[in-house]
Amino acid sequence: MAINIAILGFGTVGSGVAETLDVNKDVIAKRVGEEILVKHILDIRDFPESRFAGLVTHNAEDVFTDKDIKIAVETIGGAKIAYEFTKRALSSGISVVTSNKELVSTKGPELIKIAQENGCCYLFEAAVGGGIPIIRPLYKCLAANKITRIAGIVNGTTNYILSQMKDEGLDFDTALKQAQANGFAEANPSADIDGIDAQRKLSILSTIANDGEYIAPDLISAEGISKISVADMEFAASIGCEIKLIALYECGEDKPVCYVAPTMVDKSNLLYNVKDVFNAVMVDGNSLGRAMFYGQGAGTLPTASAVCGDVLEAAMGNPSESRAWTSESVDITPYDEIVADIVIRVDNAANVTVKGYACVYLSEEAILINGIKHKDIEAVMTETGAKSWMHYLK
Ligand code: HSE
Repeated sequence: MAINIAILGFGTVGSGVAETLDVNKDVIAKRVGEEILVKHILDIRDFPESRFAGLVTHNAEDVFTDKDIKIAVETIGGAKIAYEFTKRALSSGISVVTSNKELVSTKGPELIKIAQENGCCYLFEAAVGGGIPIIRPLYKCLAANKITRIAGIVNGTTNYILSQMKDEGLDFDTALKQAQANGFAEANPSADIDGIDAQRKLSILSTIANDGEYIAPDLISAEGISKISVADMEFAASIGCEIKLIALYECGEDKPVCYVAPTMVDKSNLLYNVKDVFNAVMVDGNSLGRAMFYGQGAGTLPTASAVCGDVLEAAMGNPSESRAWTSESVDITPYDEIVADIVIRVDNAANVTVKGYACVYLSEEAILINGIKHKDIEAVMTETGAKSWMHYLK
């Protein structure tokens, strides 16, 4: 006996899934108790060079009319055809596992519900942090905690670009071109550099931390990294910080706080040392204290590792992630009302007083303002003649 699966989309991740299931087939069969076999690969392209070429079909009916298929791996990406195929599979009782953060973050409530109604599961460990285990730890290992905060570097492309700017002194455009040449950034890198990819991943993490009360990605303020200059990197270094694109969730007193923004991360913070394409997610729980999940946030085999873990979970009939998400998004704290720590850059800090706030004078040019509402930042900038400001994380 074997458990037959189909891979929908044979790109970077889908091909890694076939590879991983094949290379590790013996240990996987031992763990599951049955072999897991890829029976169909659905893609519009042919892959004559691939050793899996014989499994490729261009006809979705080959997958959806095959009663042997128990699990579909959706590695198509996007929220159009992937959405249709996922709904169709789940409605037929076929479990779906995916790395598709766009689809999970925008349609998760509906797709999880369809899975529950049809006795199958919709699993998405690979949608956040690539190969890093974070979804299942939040759902299972940390289930007894109230999650008070998540601070993550969840986009490898931007982390690579920022590392190149810092370490090699490259400007943003050159670092981006280098990331594209090295295959890290997409030809159209907008979702990465504008913070949209991180926004989607934060939506997923925040919803889980918020007990399945769905937080839609488009509610989350996202600022990207394209305006960061080499001078900004040098200024950050002068006060012992590095600029990282941080996705932040806090449970909040009233409503959750979520945003994505370039942030000066102090060297005392573990996220400071997360370089290049690596990702890390730092989780604070009220019993746990703090834990950090670190590793390869993208790439063929690391992401396939997480997808295949979900395939095994589905094969063993243990759909822990199919806990419901609310169908409508809950409100989050409006961006203007968020209280944050920021650093302002001034000409001569000794001559500047910031009235009404707890401040730390970090250098001749840098003042840390603790606990300022976003909506009050503009007034403080005007009052102090500050040249710029940025979020700060210690
Ligand atoms: N574009 C994403 C990144 C891929 O750079 O992190 C993994 O989700």
